[in-house]
Amino acid sequence: MRFPEIVETSRLQLRRPQKEDAEAIFGAYAQDPAVTRYLVWRPHRSIQTTREFIGQCLDRWSAGSGFPYVITRKGNAPAIGMLELRPEPFKVDIGYVLARPYWGQGFVPEAASEIVRMILSDPSMYRVEAFCDVENAASARVLEKVGMLREGVMRRYIIHPTLSHEPRDCYLYAIAK
Ligand SMILES: CC(C)(COP(=O)(O)OP(=O)(O)OC[C@H]1O[C@@H](n2cnc3c(N)ncnc32)[C@H](O)[C@@H]1OP(=O)(O)O)[C@@H](O)C(=O)NCCC(=O)NCCS
Repeated sequence: MRFPEIVETSRLQLRRPQKEDAEAIFGAYAQDPAVTRYLVWRPHRSIQTTREFIGQCLDRWSAGSGFPYVITRKGNAPAIGMLELRPEPFKVDIGYVLARPYWGQGFVPEAASEIVRMILSDPSMYRVEAFCDVENAASARVLEKVGMLREGVMRRYIIHPTLSHEPRDCYLYAIAK
């Protein structure tokens, strides 16, 4: 499957990151421990860490191993979050993050619904999946709102280092055709 450089929804644009996004991402959410609480990375202490992170995102795009999209409001607006696609031969795993001032407005469900629609409309793709910490109720709700079903609990699946150094239980969610 070919992943487009830009995806649009009614309120949002998802696009390939640019080096210049580091300022907005650092300022909006990368240093916020409430945002990283259930993520696999700790808050960035300096913008240099965010710049390195953007560099890794661009490398994944170039290698085709992952497609992290920057989320913006439409109209050349600054980054307010990211939604990453990690493709395998017949399925895609998705992950997402949004800056705190924008929570609760349905932005990530809007972006993820369009991504799920796009992926499942490709003949080679059969499944979109995601996991979230068992305590991350907002993320579980997002996945339910995009039509995914909870398939089970993956015990001691991943470390969320802002929260704990011990591996955490996660829900596995998926939608298949
Ligand atoms: C999780 C996240 C992406 C949600 O994005 P969003 O655009 O704010 O999603 P929504 O606007 O749909 O709001 C979240 C939903 O969860 C619900 N919710 C939020 N906190 C909740 C809680 N503690 N318990 C139960 N439901 C909760 C909200 O009520 C809303 O559902 P509703 O529309 O049915 O009322 C966002 O909070 C975020 O970026 N969090 C930090 C990063 C993260 O955890 N990413 C996911 C990793 S798996």
